[in-house]
Amino acid sequence: MALKNRKILLGVTGSIAVHKAVDLARRLTEQGASVHVVMTDAAKKFVTPLSFEVASQNKVHSDMFADPLSHITLAADADIVVVAPASANSIGKFAGGIADDLLSTCMLSVTGKALLAPAMNWRMYENGVLQRNLQFLISRGMLQVGPERGSLACGEEAIGRMADVPEILEAIRAALSEQDFSGRKIVVTAGPTREYIDPVRFISNRSSGKMGFAIARAAMRRGATVTLVSGPAQVNPPCRVEFIAVETAAAMREAVLGKLHDCAVLIMTAAVADFSPLRREDKKVDKSDSLTLNLKKTPDILAEIGAMKQRPLLVGFSAETGADLSRAKRKRKEKGADLMVFNNVESPGSGFDVDTNEITIIEADNVTTLPLMTKDEAADALLDRVSTFIS
Ligand SMILES: Cc1cc2nc3c(=O)[nH]c(=O)nc-3n(C[C@H](O)[C@H](O)[C@H](O)COP(=O)(O)O)c2cc1C
Repeated sequence: MALKNRKILLGVTGSIAVHKAVDLARRLTEQGASVHVVMTDAAKKFVTPLSFEVASQNKVHSDMFADPLSHITLAADADIVVVAPASANSIGKFAGGIADDLLSTCMLSVTGKALLAPAMNWRMYENGVLQRNLQFLISRGMLQVGPERGSLACGEEAIGRMADVPEILEAIRAALSEQDFSGRKIVVTAGPTREYIDPVRFISNRSSGKMGFAIARAAMRRGATVTLVSGPAQVNPPCRVEFIAVETAAAMREAVLGKLHDCAVLIMTAAVADFSPLRREDKKVDKSDSLTLNLKKTPDILAEIGAMKQRPLLVGFSAETGADLSRAKRKRKEKGADLMVFNNVESPGSGFDVDTNEITIIEADNVTTLPLMTKDEAADALLDRVSTFIS
């Protein structure tokens, strides 16, 4: 879900974490959002409005009386109001209905989405009054991201650090997405597997994990509870998903089977190695003129789950070298998958390593060929089809 053309009102309060909010404003603006910043007087003690004006390319608002309507229109015009950092004082004012400056007045007039990113010393965060105020706001539909445990400004290692910018960005995207997978548990597999020859050598493939990670991220944004089981991938795990790192096909099978309970959808993008060495040598194999490897078939996780009586909606991925759909169509039937995603990894801009993909979604009685698009867009397009099966 792109942030392009979204209107975001960013409330900034008096916390040492304000500098992170400058980066947040910059990243939102870079991604095409229209960002308007409201600073409290305390926030201006930490960073000048100029920093936010440069980051957001808009004038910063602070004085309620400078524009007689801004205390209503700023929030009404926004797709979401984000308060980052949210101080204990401001959270208390929002919960108490106090409207004595521009930000607290905006927050009292919010009828749409609002997200709080609290930041404070752990003593303040664990204080029952702060917790009561926060819980009250959450019960009224406000969203919260963070805080995290980590090194605080005071030098202590404890809870209270404002969520990092990528996590706040994810929370904003999730808040702006349609929640059509809300309450659903989705398991996604991604990346390659490694089948060890000896302690240092293995058989693997070129899968980067990007497609599976994009699907996990999109499902999380759309409200699903997501588990991502991944082989060694080249990308960072998405925020707010349960991440299980595995190496071998056997470990991936075990992790997936352990997560099937209550799972509504299983999407298997992982490029599981088809063969593994018959035996894994305990010691590094000596260099020689030639080496003969005896290989055995790895477990076919998709087929095994496809054959189960009670199973989630099953989506497989079929990486092919060529444009012929027939193998993928046959695989869908043979492995008992509901959907098979055909992926010509030789097509320009498609398949391994790249951020784009061209996929064809094969169903029992429907085939949808999508144009080249980003893996994030392809993930949403696939979930659009998946949602028609589980609604
Ligand atoms: C150096 C310094 C750092 C502070 N950091 C925080 C903080 O991280 N979180 C917080 O809730 N208050 C923090 N405070 C206290 C707030 O700035 C103070 O409560 C202020 O009244 C908040 O006003 P506002 O909510 O209108 O921005 C800090 C104060 C100082 C002097």
